[in-house]
Amino acid sequence: MFPIDRIKENERKYVNEVLDDAFRTSCGYKMTRRLEEAFAEKFGSRYAVAFCNGTATLHIALEAAGVGMGDEVIVPPLTMSSTTFGVLHTGATPVFADVDPDTFLITAEAIERCITPRTRAIIAVSLYGLSPDMDPIMALAKKHDLTVIEDDAQCFLGKYKGKTVGTLGDMASFSFQASKHMTSGEGGMLITDSEELAAKIRQYSGLGYAGITPSKGKISKNDIQNPNYSRHVSLGWNYRMSDVASAVALGQLEHLDELVEARIACAKRFDEAISGTSLLARQKEGKEYVNSYWAYTVKLTDDCITWADFREKFIAFGGDSVYAEWKLTYLEPMFLDKVFLGREALLNDSVSYEKGICPVAEKLQGRLLQFKTNYYDADELEAAAQALEKTVAYFK
Ligand SMILES: Cc1ncc(COP(=O)(O)O)c(C=O)c1O
Repeated sequence: MFPIDRIKENERKYVNEVLDDAFRTSCGYKMTRRLEEAFAEKFGSRYAVAFCNGTATLHIALEAAGVGMGDEVIVPPLTMSSTTFGVLHTGATPVFADVDPDTFLITAEAIERCITPRTRAIIAVSLYGLSPDMDPIMALAKKHDLTVIEDDAQCFLGKYKGKTVGTLGDMASFSFQASKHMTSGEGGMLITDSEELAAKIRQYSGLGYAGITPSKGKISKNDIQNPNYSRHVSLGWNYRMSDVASAVALGQLEHLDELVEARIACAKRFDEAISGTSLLARQKEGKEYVNSYWAYTVKLTDDCITWADFREKFIAFGGDSVYAEWKLTYLEPMFLDKVFLGREALLNDSVSYEKGICPVAEKLQGRLLQFKTNYYDADELEAAAQALEKTVAYFK
């Protein structure tokens, strides 16, 4: 399978097509619309709206769900903090639900403990490329009339019980940031089957314009030139994706299967490297799941060995890098000091942020090792896998 090219000829070709149009406004958005249509088809959803990144997507998903001041949104703390940023952007209050000690993912049981009369939505994160157990989460959401947003920034073409991850909740958010399975440097996509949500997503991410629809992100020439045209039917944000970025993303989408398979191949090699040791416990996945392995993540089971000890040896044996898990979102200074740029006044008084809220996540955070899976060359992967084998043998 290796080597593979992360960037292929079509990415370049599509960028040139955009440049050849010289950004004439009559041509604008053409490439983005092509990307949206292709993405919706690939993921089997009715609507796809492209964004400038996968943080803006989460903000607008919540706005489209009607989430705002006084509402609570349940999120995991063990994730990249953007999952929670969108909640704060709406003025709503994030409530943190604990994760499973073996899958590292948010669970329905933990979510249920957090539900109050103010809860409006849940953000379920497919961390490292693996979907949470969505059936019980969706059943809970139905019972309490909550909107479910999948944060699939790290999961492309993953599967859950035969279904593509991204088609399980009410909306699903993807990121095309540089480390992701497919990239345009920065970028994102929000998908949904609901026409009502898609219309709001398009409007709120496109400056609240009249005359744009789920399948039309651009105002018609006749409208825009008309002095009587009323443009802004609501508040909105300019979160649109540029045509140049869309051109790269479209090329990437065309070989997304290969990009995902390469990451799965890396994970298989790392599985071999740690087989037979009880020092590391890999992220647990059920039979009905396909993990798309944005990262290969394991838990250190021996409390006497620290993440730093392991990393030092791994690098000494020729490994290139190993990441720790992000700090839990509610333990970031932003939360501890409530630096929410004025929005702290909007948060529900009943919710506070301090150590002890999610004990499982707190215990896991410093014990996780994330190995990157974006190798496109067999020798580089082999060097990392052998370094892992040697590190495991050293600590035996
Ligand atoms: C789980 C998760 N959610 C959201 C984001 C935000 O995406 P972006 O960087 O495109 O804003 C990221 C990654 O960057 C992520 O890993």
